[in-house]
Amino acid sequence: MAVSEGNFDLEAARRFHEVTKHSYTSVRAGDHYLDWDNEPFKFKIYPQAPEIALPRELSLSRVPTLTALERGSAPAAPSGTLDMERLARILFCTAGLTRTRRVGDRDYHFRAAPSAGALYPIEVYLATGSIDGVAAGLHHFSPADLKLRMLREGDWRVAISRACAENAGVASATCVLLLSAIFWRSAWKYRARCYRYCFWDTGTILANLTAAAAAEAIDAKIVSAFVDSEIEQLLGIDGDREGAVCLVALNDHGSTAVPTQTSGATAPARPAPLTLDSVPLSNGEQRYDELVRLHCASKLRSRAETEQLFLTGLEATSDQSEEAHQPPSTGSSRTLQLSPAGVGTALGIGETILRRGSTRIFARKPIHSDALAAVLCAAGRHPRIDFPPLTDTYLIVNAVEGVEPGAYLHRRQSAELELLRAGELRAQAGYLCLEQSLGADCSALICFMTDLERVIRARGNRGYRETHLEAGILAGNAYLAAYALGLGASGLTFYDDDTSDFFTGHAKQKSPLLMVAVGIPATARTS
Ligand SMILES: Cc1cc2nc3c(=O)[nH]c(=O)nc-3n(C[C@H](O)[C@H](O)[C@H](O)COP(=O)(O)O)c2cc1C
Repeated sequence: MAVSEGNFDLEAARRFHEVTKHSYTSVRAGDHYLDWDNEPFKFKIYPQAPEIALPRELSLSRVPTLTALERGSAPAAPSGTLDMERLARILFCTAGLTRTRRVGDRDYHFRAAPSAGALYPIEVYLATGSIDGVAAGLHHFSPADLKLRMLREGDWRVAISRACAENAGVASATCVLLLSAIFWRSAWKYRARCYRYCFWDTGTILANLTAAAAAEAIDAKIVSAFVDSEIEQLLGIDGDREGAVCLVALNDHGSTAVPTQTSGATAPARPAPLTLDSVPLSNGEQRYDELVRLHCASKLRSRAETEQLFLTGLEATSDQSEEAHQPPSTGSSRTLQLSPAGVGTALGIGETILRRGSTRIFARKPIHSDALAAVLCAAGRHPRIDFPPLTDTYLIVNAVEGVEPGAYLHRRQSAELELLRAGELRAQAGYLCLEQSLGADCSALICFMTDLERVIRARGNRGYRETHLEAGILAGNAYLAAYALGLGASGLTFYDDDTSDFFTGHAKQKSPLLMVAVGIPATARTS
């Protein structure tokens, strides 16, 4: 397919969003079915690559989860050293296998972070200088056997820093994680709409990663602006079936400026084609043109374009502070101040990640307003990322002690809930999330929304990726906070226009990005 759209040819994002909307009619139309004989393999395996086994006896961090979440969203001088143990703990908490469940004759492997449909389209690579036990190189992280496989020798941080237009701290990173999406893994079930899901899933992984790194006193900064082709070439991926989605610069206590070519870095400016094969995913793959078109149209093609986006806010002239991105007043005379003061000590981040598993049935019981406050606080802090806040938080309260049932806007800066509509809305909440009872039975249904037109006008098609990524991170933070407090949570997809209409009035023109239901699980998990 000839793809000529640039980042500011906005029809790519507009059209993609329109044709991938869910509605009452669309989910009942069509003949898509799950072809189990052609189900994509969920692990990327490079059989010929040299491997490094990571330690398996991992003593995960006991730093309270809410503390780790708070630290992960604020810049701080790192005091930890990124040795092999720490790296293994961070990678495990990011994308490791946490439990296996046997259903019929199949084993299902679940991972540290939630993933829509448990399809796990996101791969993790890392570029390091030499760190204790791990040779300098570009490695692929294999969650299946907790190993690194070396794809390229040498120090590639200089090349990565250049692809990011020397921005966002990559130049001084001890290690850079590079995340990609293998679209077919998710498209097999969700078709073209899966492009949104890939950024949600990247976001939940980043929520785990940034909290786990903060608990290890390692600084983690997420980078979404880079010259795609340079990163994709380095990873040896085609940028079509598998695309780069974001980078994370990890800095430790001893991190120094990355070596330059003159000070002995070994990586050439342009990486040679990667000749290592990986195991095929399935017998055949279906290509979804709308998805490929948007992925290509949201690529940054030069360092100048990358630099320009890095400097751009949500308005051409506005400042990029969080204050500048607060939603306008609802005019509601009924606001409620929330405080997480009474939540007590939450579980440590390691235990939270091990215990987390999406709630399948909620008990229709109320949660405490302090717990809701803690979850909203975690889900309201802008991550350490190279773009400004692009999302707003709305919610439907079904059963929260001391909070009147109804629809609300969460005002992040002041930790206030503004009442938009009072009343028992369980039926509507269940309907909006694709008629799933999770929405009706939970205590609160959080809905991340954005003014999509405003975002893409300011940031191009790349803004489409960014706003979905941000929603995924905030949803991942909500998951972690909920489980740390002994509650349950589940990500949820939704009817697009019905959700916009539901919040009409205040959220006019806003598009839903992702929902998270929070509440009390009806049953204890068995695996
Ligand atoms: C972005 C996202 C969307 C999700 N959407 C739904 C959904 O609509 N319905 C549902 O039952 N679960 C949903 N889930 C939960 C996943 O099915 C769950 O994460 C996956 O099965 C892995 O299981 P685990 O979270 O227990 O590890 C979603 C999860 C994520 C991260």
